[in-house]
Amino acid sequence: MNKSAEVTQAELNPEEFIREKTQEISSAVGKGLAINALSGGVDSSAVTMLGHKALGERLKTYFINNGLMRKDEPEQIVAAFKKLGVKVEVVGAEEEFFGALKGITGPEEKREAITQTFYKKVFGRLVKESGAKYLLQGTILTDVDETVAGIKRQHNVFEQLGIDPQEAFGYKIIEPLVQLRKDGVRKLSRALGLPESIYNRMPFPGPALSARVIGEVTPEKINTVRTATSIVEEELASTKAFQYMAILHQDRVTGMRDGKREFGLQIEIRCWDSIDARNARPTKLPYETLDKLASRILGGVGGVVSVTYNIAGKPPSTMEAI
Ligand code: XMP
Repeated sequence: MNKSAEVTQAELNPEEFIREKTQEISSAVGKGLAINALSGGVDSSAVTMLGHKALGERLKTYFINNGLMRKDEPEQIVAAFKKLGVKVEVVGAEEEFFGALKGITGPEEKREAITQTFYKKVFGRLVKESGAKYLLQGTILTDVDETVAGIKRQHNVFEQLGIDPQEAFGYKIIEPLVQLRKDGVRKLSRALGLPESIYNRMPFPGPALSARVIGEVTPEKINTVRTATSIVEEELASTKAFQYMAILHQDRVTGMRDGKREFGLQIEIRCWDSIDARNARPTKLPYETLDKLASRILGGVGGVVSVTYNIAGKPPSTMEAI
């Protein structure tokens, strides 16, 4: 099989793919050690399982707590993988990420700050401490396409941009999923024995909730968007849409609370129908659902006076806000 050609979901033979990729990982890493970061998304979960099949104890799996994850996410992911026999170590890096994001407002600058913090600082340190020479990661073809096309710098794409990770960060990167798109990764994950709650898990971006705060990212703003996100995820779970999210806007608008003027926050809701994230349409949500979302967000997220629903498709929109 050509190692860089696309393998569509229909073409993918999961058992053959697993055999081939575990062999590739074993022969690349040899007798050495590798690390990987598990976020709990379908891509990093699939890589974790492939890596453990190939390397067993010689793969160390970390959950990087960047302070930008959703409610209770670190605990839930560690517990889910414990059930699968995979030990995950949580690395607290909240201050490093918030420090790197301080004062930055531009979307690409924010993405770059996250990338540098993950790859140079946190993984650099973990590689040194563990003695590993390889990082396994779940880059997929859509990440590469959008980055190379200059649409959005995905946090995990290097070689295709001419960046040598060995030179830039001091370790090699192995990307076993780079021929697949999301639908293929789901099919693979099922064959790898991951539970449905993971192989059908909604995508969540590498820059996490910082992709959903317009303008500067602060712990307070992340808290706001985190609370709104958990309401949106609860209310829209039954839609089975491809992805749904809450976005915190930078602009404030005049509202009123308790008979007083309040120059308050705006939350935008997005809910997408899509197959592979390359194109997407807003889901036609019933008005009652929108109404319920608005009242729960206005009542449950401090300082919010405006809730909107996005009706623009991708393109020209993208799915995330930054
Ligand atoms: P966009 O916003 O580009 O998103 O339409 C397409 C899909 O990719 C996810 N996304 C990311 N995933 N790192 C990732 O791993 C990133 O930097 C990133 N940015 C966007 C997004 O959630 C959607 O599913």
